[in-house]
Amino acid sequence: MKRESKRGRRSSLVAAVVLVVGFVIGAVAVADGIPAIPHTLEGRAACLTCHGEGKLKPAPADHAGRADATCTGCHHAAP
Ligand code: HEC
Ligand code: HEC
Repeated sequence: MKRESKRGRRSSLVAAVVLVVGFVIGAVAVADGIPAIPHTLEGRAACLTCHGEGKLKPAPADHAGRADATCTGCHHAAP
């Protein structure tokens, strides 16, 4: 009985540590300077017509395969 509950406490401690570490990493990723969108989004929903490969202002190579609908999940219009 006693041993059982001790093990339960330890695993919730481990879970808490994992949670905190995950949160810190997530916060750093958000603060990690995702560039804001310097222009209005009016009439510019189709990001890739300008930010696709070889276009006006190509997105970085690691963006390959990202769809228009995902862009504003990371990039927010500058106020
Ligand atoms: C009509 C063309 C066009 C469309 C459509 C467009 N953009 Fe842009 N975008 C530009 C140009 C040109 C620049 C760079 C010039 C500037 O600073 O305004 C730019 C700049 C950016 C930047 C900053 C790049 C940097 O160097 O810091 C981001 C981020 C961005 N756009 C995201 C988006 C997203 C997300 C969408 C879709 C919701 C989008 N853009 C739609 C033309 C476009
Ligand atoms: C998972 C988050 C994420 C998504 C989704 C995303 N981006 Fe980005 N984007 C970033 C980050 C982070 C950077 C800066 C680091 C880098 O160069 O990769 C960046 C850089 C850019 C730049 C260059 C900015 C500069 O300063 O040169 C453009 C343009 C851009 N993104 C457009 C887009 C477009 C268009 C889409 C949708 C097709 C998109 N992004 C989707 C995270 C994202």
